[in-house]
Amino acid sequence: MAATLLLRLFEQYHSCRSEEDHKGAMKTSVKDIKDFYDDPAVVETYRARRAVQPVGSVLHEREVLFLKQAMEGPSIVRVLDLAPGPARLSAELDPPMLGVAMDFSPNMLREARRQTRARGKSWQLVQGDGYRIPFTQESFDLVYSLRFIRRFERPYRDRLYGEIRRVLRPGGRFIMDAQNRAVALPHRMTRGFEKYPVYDELFLRHELLQELEENRFRVIQIEGIMRRFALQFRLNRLRRLRLSGLARFLIRLLEHTKDKNPSTWMVLCQKKEW
Ligand SMILES: C[S@@+](CC[C@H](N)C(=O)[O-])C[C@H]1O[C@@H](n2cnc3c(N)ncnc32)[C@H](O)[C@@H]1O
Repeated sequence: MAATLLLRLFEQYHSCRSEEDHKGAMKTSVKDIKDFYDDPAVVETYRARRAVQPVGSVLHEREVLFLKQAMEGPSIVRVLDLAPGPARLSAELDPPMLGVAMDFSPNMLREARRQTRARGKSWQLVQGDGYRIPFTQESFDLVYSLRFIRRFERPYRDRLYGEIRRVLRPGGRFIMDAQNRAVALPHRMTRGFEKYPVYDELFLRHELLQELEENRFRVIQIEGIMRRFALQFRLNRLRRLRLSGLARFLIRLLEHTKDKNPSTWMVLCQKKEW
């Protein structure tokens, strides 16, 4: 009993220490993050990995569905996908009257062009920096940005929120994703932090809501995705037995369970005017 406890404490000490060590090794600066994502090898792995993993593909389809629903309705006419990467999401969405996908990386944009054209989606692809979005104020009705804002530390996230607010019309909508620290941190400890080379802010639900409120966004919907992540991640292994279809089916089924402690949140907000 005492030996087990000691062993656990020893393991905890080492995983915490490696998390600290890892923080020093992660890409955190705005420039390093830009360079990292423009690497052709990163563009390629990003694209390929999404296509094969059952857990990744269900997460992806849930995100696409959330965005599709948010884009419905006559008031959403001008949409910005901020930092689309290889257009993982926008290549599956029909832009309304105006759809702009803006990324800093020329290599990501090249892939995004290929993907959107292959699917006949008429997004305007623009190169630009999220810290200085090259559009005038109130240009968009909806901005969505996944796996981007959380790559930066708080002062930088605040600057990005400020830019998003600037280009949104009054009452405009904003969607982002966030990782639940209660689920993602233990998972990353087990997998090894070296698999996560770029800074990634993990949130508790109340922290996320508070951060958005402080940046003058009113949260109107927060939806948990990957609702039974530990089990879903284990089911993902069925792909090694060539049972990806079954894995996907079961992972999808678990998305119908209660949204208590998911690994990911999709958040829909509205720009506040006061
Ligand atoms: C993890 S990818 C996310 C891609 C996509 N949103 C998705 O969910 O699949 C992050 C993207 O942010 C882009 N990026 C990094 N820094 C940027 C900046 N300062 N301005 C605009 N885009 C940036 C990268 O080029 C990369 O395409």
